[in-house]
Amino acid sequence: MKKIEAIIKPFKLDEVKDALHEIGLQGLTVVEAKGFGRQKGHTELYRGAEYVVDFLPKVKIEVICSDDLAERAVEAITAAARTGRIGDGKIFITEVQDVVRIRTGERGEEAV
Ligand SMILES: Nc1ncnc2c1ncn2[C@@H]1O[C@H](COP(=O)(O)OP(=O)(O)OP(=O)(O)O)[C@@H](O)[C@H]1O
Ligand SMILES: [Mg+2]
Repeated sequence: MKKIEAIIKPFKLDEVKDALHEIGLQGLTVVEAKGFGRQKGHTELYRGAEYVVDFLPKVKIEVICSDDLAERAVEAITAAARTGRIGDGKIFITEVQDVVRIRTGERGEEAV
C-alpha cells in the first residue's frame, strides 16, 4: 500500500476529490495547510491577489491505497490540480506498512 500526500491549491480540492472518486478511491483525508515552495519571498497569486509572504494557504490531501491504484491516483491528482502556474503543489508518495479498519478489525488492503 502507498500513502499519497498531495499539497494543492485550495480551490482545486473539489476537482481532485472528484477525480479520485472516479478511479475508485473511497476514502481520503483533507488537512488545511500552509506552506511555501521555491518562490519563498516572491509573489504568488491567491484568489486574484498577489501575496508576498512566507506561507500560503494550501490543502493537503492524504490517500492510502493499494499499490495497483497508486500510479493512477497520482496521475488523477496531477491532472486535476494542475493550472500550469507556480504553486500548483507537490505529491509525496510513501510505503504504508499496515492499516486497521477500526469497526471490523480488518487489516491491510482489506481495511483500506
Ligand atoms: N520540499 C517540500 N517539502 C514539503 N512541502 C513542500 C515542499 N515543496 C513544496 N511543498 C509544499 O507544497 C506547496 C506548493 O509548493 P509549490 O508548488 O510552490 O512548489 P515549487 O517547488 O515552488 O514549485 P513551483 O515552481 O511550481 O511553484 C508549498 O506551499 C508547500 O506547502
Ligand atoms: Mg512554488
